[in-house]
Amino acid sequence: MTPTAPTTTAHRPIAESWLFFRRWLADPRAMGSVAPSSAALRRRITRHVRRDADELVVEFGGGTGPITGALLDSGIPADRLCSFEIDPALADHLRRRHPDVTVFADDCRKAPELLGQARCGTVGTVVIGIPMITFPLAFQREVLDATFRILRPGGRFLLYSFMPHSPLDRKALELTGERLAFTPLNLPPASVWGYRRAEG
Ligand SMILES: C[S@@+](CC[C@H](N)C(=O)[O-])C[C@H]1O[C@@H](n2cnc3c(N)ncnc32)[C@H](O)[C@@H]1O
Repeated sequence: MTPTAPTTTAHRPIAESWLFFRRWLADPRAMGSVAPSSAALRRRITRHVRRDADELVVEFGGGTGPITGALLDSGIPADRLCSFEIDPALADHLRRRHPDVTVFADDCRKAPELLGQARCGTVGTVVIGIPMITFPLAFQREVLDATFRILRPGGRFLLYSFMPHSPLDRKALELTGERLAFTPLNLPPASVWGYRRAEG
């Protein structure tokens, strides 16, 4: 689904935090946290994004758009950035906030079909913002299947999480992964993890 003539929304942090909190009240499991990602967490995520000039960056769970904005500020062109957000109110906000970014108001598990065959395998980094730990293993497998179908061969995805340990069971999901960064300056304190498909 693509935006129809969006108009830009000015960045209003308090209004965005309030919108986020209301959506958390409506669906705590899908939201996973009570507030948008902090500036400290955004910096730690963008630092680890990798892409070649012609590659895309794809975000799963755009929320109110703090990571989306940080990715743009880090130099990723808007036409190389796509964000999936399942909550219609948040997707609507995201489109107005970042009108040049392609926002899919849909489930990130549909990313391969919604991006289309031609863009599968052309994504430098997937940034997963959805709270994977709150979902069962079967759902996690579906998200990772979509992730690896769109990532370039051998590509890495980033996942931010509020757990002290790996938010994904690396053995069960056949992943290698490590903690890349941590910040106490987020509500709650958060880590950034990077994962790839385990070899062989
Ligand atoms: C922890 S919030 C992160 C929001 C934002 N990226 C940030 O850093 O503040 C998780 C977001 O993932 C979205 N989400 C949850 N499940 C999803 C799914 N299956 N597909 C797309 N978005 C999903 C939620 O609606 C929510 O906006």
